[in-house]
Amino acid sequence: MYLTRTEHFNAAHKLANPNWSKEKNEEIFGACANENWHGHNYEILVTVKGEPDAETGFLYDVKKLSQLINKYVIDELDHKNLNIDVPFMHGQMCSTENLVVAIWKQLEPHIPAQVKLHSIKLYETPRIYVEYFGA
Ligand code: NI
Repeated sequence: MYLTRTEHFNAAHKLANPNWSKEKNEEIFGACANENWHGHNYEILVTVKGEPDAETGFLYDVKKLSQLINKYVIDELDHKNLNIDVPFMHGQMCSTENLVVAIWKQLEPHIPAQVKLHSIKLYETPRIYVEYFGA
């Protein structure tokens, strides 16, 4: 059985390969190559897998799951510039693909033993998301 908690954050970024010309960056990354940054309203869906507890009927306490996501992910990213302010994104292209892998590495060690982290789905826009299963 799977349980999902959704959280939200806002962050700025820029996608640009420093080895490429301005024209090539604009061709490949479009609006995300804008030199003076831009923001996205990210939605993150964290899904854990397990079995409901006999006494509570809960797979896991969603309030606690929310607290974990906020402490290890949202507090690090919300209202930040992903390229500059976020140590775990340093040296990486701040794409949704790379961001979801970095978020997995941040969060997974803190997931309690009674459940397993199953997937993280990260929406960059309402119509674009990346889903990661840890491999
Ligand atoms: Ni963008």
